[in-house]
Amino acid sequence: MSSEEIRQSFLEFFKKKGHKIVPSSSLIPENDPTTLFTGSGMQPMLRYLLGEKHPLGKQIVDVQKCFRTDDIDEVGDNRHTTFFEMLGNWSLGDFFKKEQIPWIFEFLTETISLNPENIYVTVFRGNETLKLLRDEESVKIWQEVFGRVEIEAKAVDFSERDGMRGGRIFYYDEKKNWWSRTGVPNEMPVGEPGGPDSEIFWDFGAELKIHEKSKFKNQPCHVNCDCGRFLEIGNNVFMEYVKTDSRFSLLPQKNVDFGGGLERLVAAKNNDPDIFKTDVFSELVAKIRELAGDINDNAIRVFADHLRASVFLIADGLKPSNKEAGYILRRLLRRILAYTVKYDIHADLFPASVEIIKEKFGEIYPEVKETKMILEVLEDEKQKFHEAIGRGIKEIEKYPKITGKDAFYLYETFGLPFELIKELAPKDAVKALSKGDFDKEFEKHQELSRTASAGMFKGGLVDMSEQTIKLHTAAHLLMESLRQVLGNHVMQKGSNITAERLRLDFSHPEKLTAEEIKEVEDLVNQKIQEDLLVKMEEMNLEQAKKQGAMGVFEAKYGEKVKVYSIGDFSKEICGGPHVQKTGELGHFKIIKEKASSSGVRRIKAVLD
Ligand code: ALA
Repeated sequence: MSSEEIRQSFLEFFKKKGHKIVPSSSLIPENDPTTLFTGSGMQPMLRYLLGEKHPLGKQIVDVQKCFRTDDIDEVGDNRHTTFFEMLGNWSLGDFFKKEQIPWIFEFLTETISLNPENIYVTVFRGNETLKLLRDEESVKIWQEVFGRVEIEAKAVDFSERDGMRGGRIFYYDEKKNWWSRTGVPNEMPVGEPGGPDSEIFWDFGAELKIHEKSKFKNQPCHVNCDCGRFLEIGNNVFMEYVKTDSRFSLLPQKNVDFGGGLERLVAAKNNDPDIFKTDVFSELVAKIRELAGDINDNAIRVFADHLRASVFLIADGLKPSNKEAGYILRRLLRRILAYTVKYDIHADLFPASVEIIKEKFGEIYPEVKETKMILEVLEDEKQKFHEAIGRGIKEIEKYPKITGKDAFYLYETFGLPFELIKELAPKDAVKALSKGDFDKEFEKHQELSRTASAGMFKGGLVDMSEQTIKLHTAAHLLMESLRQVLGNHVMQKGSNITAERLRLDFSHPEKLTAEEIKEVEDLVNQKIQEDLLVKMEEMNLEQAKKQGAMGVFEAKYGEKVKVYSIGDFSKEICGGPHVQKTGELGHFKIIKEKASSSGVRRIKAVLD
């Protein structure tokens, strides 16, 4: 079965069960200043998991493009990638465990005919301190579905300590069997939904002796062991909680978020643990091998992963830059380009790769057919690289020992990212060089020091830089100023904040005049000068509405919402964070005003 067949049969399977198919969202999230990339199927579904009604109903199926940097250092082995496709099926307050588990088992074992003997599952052990229950309900349902194919499914606890002991179902703690965008329960911010999950693993077989050959050979092998014998192919998240202070409350609805890695499912179907040997990658890998000549498998996989990821990111409108998402893209591309220098590859990998990716994915993701634009971005970055980095690589070799200061100099002068310096310099020269040394220099030199990668949480959320927080507060001032200048019909339709600028979409039927823009700017600046105090109060949604708080989405945020007020000028339901006093903001300036869609205007503004 090809990846196309598996992808399609997943959509059709759940369509038959009553789900509605929705297309993938962009890899670059809209209206979410807290995250750089869509890293899971959940990202675009967040509002619906919290209770807003999805226009297509309560059962949704999709294939979502995802990009994660968590495993970027692992890319090169046989199973990690940055970009991947996630098959998703969703209950938005509809069905729950007793439907989902049998359905997914049916899909895996009947629709795509995976042998149930090779399937193992995990469930949540529970946590008394957090008052989160042990998931015995899922165990019972799994036992029943395995029973139907005559597999006795014994549930075993502590396999990570004591081995698998003939089990089929394994309990794990919240580090393994809990899912939210922000990781384990303690790390979740207030208002964030999450829940216990039940993961599905494929066993490539004891006879391959993968464990015995791995560095884990002296520990017991279990399904979550990183030796590579078992591969997680799917995850049922039973998303019924929302974080409230240090505890959890039940969401107003029970949700299911299933995510299955397409590339991994194809690998399971091939019964070969190397996802780069699946049809998803085979042509690209063959082409790279042909063009690059005799280089090792790890380098080929890095090329294949990074090329594919870059093409998809560019197709969604991203450009390489020195900030945030653009910086991550630059790192991917510069790694590819630096490898071509390191391995002395003279062939041009870009045109052939872009073409293969278009042929392979263009039907389901038409954006990758924009090959002319994609190639232009790639070529432009290549030129910049050759101008600056080429010199940098030569420069590196002059150093018998590279200190944090040297590394920062190489970064600043030649654009060489830290990771590349580590990779390209002679081993002895960088033995003592740590990321910490580099970061210290970086912090010293950069006023606005947050690069995206430094601020990443698990799952791709970005820690807000000081400037982002300021712009966020400015966005509230802007919103209220627009209402006062243009009228109360003005409602927020979306926002997106980076460290450089804020973008606000709002309802208004016509172009703003120069006078209106000036009036809005002046009002914001006046409120900045008044140095108003920003206050946060938690209250329930009804109270917040009664007090006239503005809110973008009509979501139920759980029991309570945060309401931020700025003096008595503005009041909005919002997750924060904000500055404490508006005097911190500096000078506000609108740099662009244009149409966003029919009846919606878009403003870009900066603080200087
Ligand atoms: N959102 C879940 C995950 O990414 C399915 O594992």
